[in-house]
Amino acid sequence: MNITIEQLKKGFSIFKNSKTVYLDSAATSLTPHKVVQVVEKYYEEYRANTHRGLYKEAERATKEYEKAREEVARFIGADAREVVFTGGATLSSNMIMGMLEDFLENGGEVVSGVIDHHALMLPLQRLARRKNMLHEYVDVTSECVPDEDAFVRAITAKTRLVGVTFASNVTGAILDVKKITEAAHKVSALVVVDATAAVGHMDVNVHELDVDFLFFSGHKMCGPTGVGVLYGKHELLEKMEPPLIGGGMVSDVTLGNAEWTEVPEKFEAGTQHIAGAIGLGEAVRFLDSVGLETVQKHARELTEYAQEQLGAVEGVTLYSAPVEKNVGIVSFALEGVHPHDVAEILGKEGVAVRAGHHCALPLHSALGIPASTRASFYLYNTKDDVDALVRGVKKVQQVFNV
Ligand code: ALA
Repeated sequence: MNITIEQLKKGFSIFKNSKTVYLDSAATSLTPHKVVQVVEKYYEEYRANTHRGLYKEAERATKEYEKAREEVARFIGADAREVVFTGGATLSSNMIMGMLEDFLENGGEVVSGVIDHHALMLPLQRLARRKNMLHEYVDVTSECVPDEDAFVRAITAKTRLVGVTFASNVTGAILDVKKITEAAHKVSALVVVDATAAVGHMDVNVHELDVDFLFFSGHKMCGPTGVGVLYGKHELLEKMEPPLIGGGMVSDVTLGNAEWTEVPEKFEAGTQHIAGAIGLGEAVRFLDSVGLETVQKHARELTEYAQEQLGAVEGVTLYSAPVEKNVGIVSFALEGVHPHDVAEILGKEGVAVRAGHHCALPLHSALGIPASTRASFYLYNTKDDVDALVRGVKKVQQVFNV
C-alpha cells in the first residue's frame, strides 16, 4: 500500500462519525466513501432501470451496471457472461442448489465440510435430501482448518458434488480449493465454492482454480449490502434452468410457454439492485487500488499480533487457523464467561466484535463449544485496535472476576 493506514481511513467517512474499534468486518465490512458516492450518483443523476429504457438515463444505468459486471468478472478472473448479480451470497447459494436440483441425476454422494457457513451447508443438505444423495462431511483438525487430505479421500467415484468453503468465517482457515477441485474433477463431480470470506481479502481466480460455481456477497468486501455474485462456468450456465423466472430474462413468451434470453441475464429475473452492483464495481476498483496482496499481508500481520496478544491472556482459548492459512479472523472463548457477555462488555468499551455461532453451528459442535467471540480484521484496522480488544477482554475478566 503506497498510503498509510491513517490516510486510507480518511477514505471511510464512518471513522469521522464513529470512534468504535470495528473488529466485525467478517459480519460486514465498512464502506469507502467512493463507493457511497457512486451509489448516491446513481440515485441522484441517472436513476432508471437497466436493459429497458431508450432514454439517456436508462442507457447510462445499463452502461454502468454492465461496466460493474466487467470489473467484478476481471477481479475474480471470470468472463463477464459468467457473473450473475444476485441479492447476496445466501441467495446465490440457494439459486445454485435450485439449478443443480434440475441438473443432477438422483443418487450419488455430496462431500462438504463441517466448517461451512449455513449459507452453503443448508441448501446443500436440502439438495442432498431431495436428490437421495449421501452427504459426507469432512471434519476440522485441531488447527481449526479442514483436513484437506481427508477432503480428497472423501471424494470417490460416487461423488457428484463437492461444496467447499474458501475461507472460514469463524476460524479464518483458507482451504486449498484447487487441490479439492482437481480431485473432484477427476471423478467428474461439480464443485461449488462459498468464497464470501475470501473475495476482496485475497486473490481468488475462478478460471485458475477451475471451480464450477462460486458465490460471495458484496458487503464483506467494501461493497453495498443486498448485492452478491453467482459465478458459474459459461458452458454450465448455458445448459441450466434459471431458478427465478419473470421479467427481463426472456427472449419470447406465449400464453403457453417462454424462452430464456442469454446468460447472464437469464439468471437475473426482475429488477436488480442496480445501485448495489454499481457500488460493488467501485468497491472492486478501490480494492485494486490498494492491492489484494497488501490487504492480505496487513490482515495477516494483525491476525498474528492478535493471536499472540490474546493467546497470552490466561483463560483465553483461540479458535483461529495458523496465520499463514488465515484470512484475518481470530475467534476465541474466555473461560467462565459466555461469548455474549464478552461481546456486550467489549461493546461498552467501544470494541465491536461478534459473538454466537456465526451461522456455523456444526463447526462449533465439532470444536466442542456452544459459541465463540470473533474478532475479524480488514484493511482499515491497526495494532491499536488489537490492543483495545485485549484491554477489553481483561476488563471482562475483572467484571466477571475470572
Ligand atoms: N456471515 C456473516 C458472519 O459471519 C454475517 O458474521
